Amino acid sequence: MKRGPKKQQRWKDHYSEQARKEKYPARSVYKLKEAQKRFRFIKRGDRVLDLGCSPGSWLLYAAELTGKQGRVLGIDLKAVTCQMPPQAETLTVDVLSIDQVWFERQNLLNHFDVVLSDMAPATSGNKMLDATRSYQLCQAALNAAEMALRPGGSFICKIFQGEEFKKFAESVKSRFRQHRIFKPRSSRKESKEIFILGIGFTKK
Ligand SMILES: C[S@@+](CC[C@H](N)C(=O)[O-])C[C@H]1O[C@@H](n2cnc3c(N)ncnc32)[C@H](O)[C@@H]1O
Repeated sequence: MKRGPKKQQRWKDHYSEQARKEKYPARSVYKLKEAQKRFRFIKRGDRVLDLGCSPGSWLLYAAELTGKQGRVLGIDLKAVTCQMPPQAETLTVDVLSIDQVWFERQNLLNHFDVVLSDMAPATSGNKMLDATRSYQLCQAALNAAEMALRPGGSFICKIFQGEEFKKFAESVKSRFRQHRIFKPRSSRKESKEIFILGIGFTKK
C-alpha cells in the first residue's frame, strides 16, 4: 500500500504551498504574520528596518502593512531578487559590520518605528555552535535597533535557544517597556528558534 507524506512533511508543505499561492518567496512570512496578528506592532505609515531580509517575504509583508506612506529598508548579506513595491528597498550589507558611523552616514539614526530581525547563521548541525552564532547576530540586531529606533519603537528578533538565550532576553527587557517571548505555530516544532518582541523602546 502506498503511504502518504509523513505528518510533519504535510505540515511543512502547507505553509510552503500557502507562501507559493500568496506569492511570498519564503514560508517564514507566516511567523511574522502570526506575531503581527497577536501584537500589532507594525502600523500604517511606519518606517521599518528588516535585518536579514532575503529572500524578501517579511519585507513584502511589512511593506503591505506600512502602505505607500511608509518605508521598509531591508538589509542582508544576500541580494533580494523578488519584485518589491516602491516603499521597499534593500541594501546588501553585513549587519555585523554596521555601526553608529554607518547609521549617521545613511541618515538613519533614530529613524525607524520598527526593527525586525529574522537573521540566522548558516547552520552547522552543531546546536550549541549554531545557538552561539545566532546569539551574536541577535546582539548585532539589538545594537542596530538601539541606533535605528526612535523612542517608543518596537523590535522583534529571532533567536535559537541556547545558553545565551536568557541573557539576550534580559537585554531586550532592559531596553523596552514591555517584552514578549513567542513561538509561532508556523515555526517547526523541532526548531530551536523563538522570537523576542520588545515594545516601547527607551532611549538611554
Ligand atoms: C531565515 S532567512 C530570512 C528570511 C526572511 N525574513 C524572509 O522572510 O524572506 C535569514 C537571513 O539572514 C541573513 N543573514 C545572516 N547573517 C547575516 C549578517 N551578518 N548580515 C546580514 N544578513 C545576514 C541570511 O543571509 C539569510 O538571508
